[in-house]
Amino acid sequence: MPFVKDFTPVALGETNLFKPIKIGNNKLQHRVVLPPLTRMRATHPGNVPNKDWAVEYYNQRSQRPGTLLITEGAFICAQAGGYDNAPGIWSDEQVEEWKKIFAQIHENKSFVWVQLWALGRQSYADTLARDGLRYDSASDNVYMDAEQEERAKKSSNPQHGLTKEEIKEYIKCYVQAAKNSFAAGADGVEIHSANGYLLNQFLDPISNKRTDEYGGSIENRARFTLEVVDAVVDAIGEEKVGVRFSPYGTFGTMSGGADPTLLAQYAYILGELEKRAKAGKRLAFVHLVEPRVTDPFLTEGQGEYNDGTNDFAYSIWKGVIIRAGNLALHPESVKQMVADDRTLIGYGRFFIANPDIVDRVEKGEQFNKYDRDTFYAMTAHGYTDYPTYDEAIKLGWDKQ
Ligand SMILES: Cc1cc2nc3c(=O)[nH]c(=O)nc-3n(C[C@H](O)[C@H](O)[C@H](O)COP(=O)(O)O)c2cc1C
Repeated sequence: MPFVKDFTPVALGETNLFKPIKIGNNKLQHRVVLPPLTRMRATHPGNVPNKDWAVEYYNQRSQRPGTLLITEGAFICAQAGGYDNAPGIWSDEQVEEWKKIFAQIHENKSFVWVQLWALGRQSYADTLARDGLRYDSASDNVYMDAEQEERAKKSSNPQHGLTKEEIKEYIKCYVQAAKNSFAAGADGVEIHSANGYLLNQFLDPISNKRTDEYGGSIENRARFTLEVVDAVVDAIGEEKVGVRFSPYGTFGTMSGGADPTLLAQYAYILGELEKRAKAGKRLAFVHLVEPRVTDPFLTEGQGEYNDGTNDFAYSIWKGVIIRAGNLALHPESVKQMVADDRTLIGYGRFFIANPDIVDRVEKGEQFNKYDRDTFYAMTAHGYTDYPTYDEAIKLGWDKQ
């Protein structure tokens, strides 16, 4: 893989991106973050992090001391999953593997937060049926697309709107998964309420057609996410909890910018988090996906939503904000974003391809291109074999 062409890097070493900041109890040395990146290398059965490669993958990306790494999404329980090759954090076997990964990250003097994940209707009804599990979402039979509907019908596992009892079960799973994360040695957890997955399905009226206290109004649609936040905070402490949203995301056939009322949904939920903060329980961070990337499986620039920004969040939420979404190739935007003293930047796809991206961003060095075909391949290739800058120069990648 050659370097990215038609891109002029800018050294950001002198900006706030390279000023230390405290997140929860972690003293970060800079503000470049590894955002959650599912890599589909976990093993089936058991959804166990890959025993051969995962330690090395995270080892490479935590080399720079004081880096914040957020893990790939980890299923809070079997019912929340349905992708055979994504890891969970509910079983002893999974926790044992995570322990090795987290120990390595800590050995490198970096920090690791676990992203707590429940798929809802983005799961596969047939895989869930195979394992005797429901195909869950906010509402019955509001499928994300025709393909998912067909899978559900063929496997006689129609989309199921959670009952209030089942919502309580999920909340218990989030709490247990957060405790398991600490048992494995993690520094914190990020609650995944973005990208069209279960909690996002409750936030968006396109998928939430409920008429009980979990649907119908902005307050009601926010209830599940806020109950999860509150329960996890009660269990492990607010300084160890962050939450992720994608106000403009269309991944998973969410509304994104097409629904002009949606920002009110996010304004409300950020306001609720800020109220809790003012009452003494400030979450460690809020993590926002930028409108530049409404669907990370499109090439940078495609699917960009140019008609809105996440700036509104700063008027409401007064704590730390992590922003991610096509920022690696836009250092000038990063410069502007980090001008305040509470913004961190997630580098997603380019952190996959550049294990030493922190150094490259600091010095203004070229990036390795990423290989989309190996994002989800069950291979070490494309996972642990991307070279550092010096190695890439030796390989002649700068000349290709
Ligand atoms: C292969 C891949 C896997 C991803 N997995 C997750 C995930 O597990 N959880 C999540 O919240 N976002 C996930 N994302 C979204 C990224 O965290 C990030 O928001 C997105 O890629 C935009 O940032 P970028 O332009 O720097 O890549 C994923 C993106 C990619 C490309």
